[in-house]
Amino acid sequence: TNDLVSVDQLTNEDVTYFIRLAQAFKRGLTVTLNRPAFAMNLFFENSTRTHTSFEMAERRLGLQVIPFDPRTSSVTKGESLLDTLKTIQAIGVDLAVIRHPEDNYYQDLLAAEMPISLINAGDGSGQHPSQSLLDMLTIYEEFGHFDGLKIAIVGDLAHSRVARSNMALLTQLGAQVFFSGPEAWMQPEFTAYGEYRPLDELVGEMDVMMLLRVQHERLPQAKNAAFDAQAYHQQYGLTVARAAKMPKQAIIMHPAPVNRGVELASELVEAPQSRIFQQMTNGMYVRMAMVAHLLGQRGLLDARQLEEATHVNFN
Ligand code: CP
Repeated sequence: TNDLVSVDQLTNEDVTYFIRLAQAFKRGLTVTLNRPAFAMNLFFENSTRTHTSFEMAERRLGLQVIPFDPRTSSVTKGESLLDTLKTIQAIGVDLAVIRHPEDNYYQDLLAAEMPISLINAGDGSGQHPSQSLLDMLTIYEEFGHFDGLKIAIVGDLAHSRVARSNMALLTQLGAQVFFSGPEAWMQPEFTAYGEYRPLDELVGEMDVMMLLRVQHERLPQAKNAAFDAQAYHQQYGLTVARAAKMPKQAIIMHPAPVNRGVELASELVEAPQSRIFQQMTNGMYVRMAMVAHLLGQRGLLDARQLEEATHVNFN
């Protein structure tokens, strides 16, 4: 297909392909475009990591990046996202990377079957496929496999597109997923992927402690006003005392941005078992792989360059 919008599109073979391609880029793979190609990153929600790393990935692949600011675009005059996409395609943009607060915003864009390539950089509380693939790369680099790994996804389960993407992909890859955090935030549909357990029951058994940010921007005002960061940290956070109970091989992950001292103790962000900054580095290489793959599908680069690189097993 011409789009990467949800982890539901990905088979285990696809995940392996993206991991290998990202590793190849990490080792210095370069590709040549068949003609000048243009990308536009349309971010209707704030971002530092995803936006910057997509732009870095596009530039490193040789794409020219056309700026887009929703605040000065004609979206402010009522132009729809679909008409915006039709417009930038007509002008000559080859790839659109979109983050939007609405769940499934991409459905009517896909239904229009336009030739422009589309990557979902996060939709509301729906999906975050590039985050999920960078998390898979980070876990694979650490353990060399997924089968039987125990992974706790902890925190703001209600609003997390990272939880939704990762629970699906991790279980598909053979990992065992657990959930923790405020029990009221556990979602009924999550039980198909793993059980809810109090944090203190999990921390001594997990290979990966994956913390999620409390998304204050999606909480009602009254809940934000009543939120007690210290109490949350003590009850649901990875404190220094809890981290001391983690098995020797276990790692800490967080998609970031981190509320330091809330989801995890501030000093744990830079602790030896933390992979938080490695996740960010991996994000750039995974996004190179995603963009290059779509360019290959469109014939904008010779896909054989990518195929050859993914035949190498780096682990
Ligand atoms: N993890 C993540 O999506 O971060 P940004 O919101 O900064 O892109």
